[in-house]
Amino acid sequence: MSAPAAERESLGVFSPRRARLAARTLRTDRWWLSPLLTVVGLGAFVIYATVRSFVRSAYYVADYHYLTPFYSPCLSESCVPGSSHFGTPFPELPMWIPLAFLSLPFLLGFRLTCYYYRKAYYRSIWLSPPACAVAEPHTKYTGETRLPLIIQNSHRYFFYAAVIISVINSYDAVVAFHGKDGGFGFGLGNVILVVNVVLLWIYTVSCHSCRHVTGGRLKHFSKHPVRYWIWTQVSKLNTRHMQFAWITLGTLVLTDFYIMLVASDTISDLRFVG
Ligand code: FES
Repeated sequence: MSAPAAERESLGVFSPRRARLAARTLRTDRWWLSPLLTVVGLGAFVIYATVRSFVRSAYYVADYHYLTPFYSPCLSESCVPGSSHFGTPFPELPMWIPLAFLSLPFLLGFRLTCYYYRKAYYRSIWLSPPACAVAEPHTKYTGETRLPLIIQNSHRYFFYAAVIISVINSYDAVVAFHGKDGGFGFGLGNVILVVNVVLLWIYTVSCHSCRHVTGGRLKHFSKHPVRYWIWTQVSKLNTRHMQFAWITLGTLVLTDFYIMLVASDTISDLRFVG
C-alpha cells in the first residue's frame, strides 16, 4: 500500500532535506541506455532459458555424450538414455517440472542474489535509482534489512551450491570427450563445452562470497600466506565480475544452442578426432 499523499511529501526524494527540483534529473546524457540494455539482455536470457528448460528436446547428443548445461544433472526416468550421468534416482516427471529441477533453482538463486545482478536489476527494473542523480519513483528506502530483500543475504549459500554444480558441469564436459564408435573423441562441441565450463568457474570463483570464504575474518594475512595468496587471486578476478556475469550468460546460451543444433540433426558436429 502506498503512503498517504501528505506522508509521501516528506519521504525519499520529497523529503525536506532534498533539493526542490521540478525536473526528475538534470542529466543530459543518455543515462537511460545502460538500464535499458540490461533489461533487454536479462529479459532475452530469461525467456531463452525458460523455454529451453521446459521443451525437453534436443538437449543430448548420444553419439558424443554432449549434454547441455540447462539439463544437467538429468536424474529422472524422463531423461533420454545416456543423458543421466549420475543415474536416475527420480521417477518420470510431469512436463511442468524441468528435468534439471535440482540445479536450476540454485543457479537461478545464485544469479538473482549476485551482487552484480542486484545492482543491474535494482537500477533497470526496480528503478532504485535508475542511475546516479536520477530521482527514483520510490518514496522509501529500506535497503536489504527486511523482507523480501533480506533474502539477498542467502547469496553465500547459493555460492556453495554453484560450486557443486560447476563440478557437475565439469564432469559433463569431461564425459563428452567421446567418439562416435566409443573411446576418445574430440570435436567443436568439446571446445564449446570446455570454454563454457572454464568461464563458469571463473564467474563462480570471482564471486564476492568467494572472496569472503578465502580471505574473510583473517586478522593477520601474514599468518595465513596461502589463504592470502588465494584471496589476492580471487580479488583480481572479482574486479571483472560484471564482465564474467554477462559473458557466462552468453556462453550458456551459445553452448545450449550448439548442442540443440547438433542433437536435432540441423548441423553436424565438427569432429577433429573420433
Ligand atoms: Fe556475483 Fe557472487 S557476487 S556470483
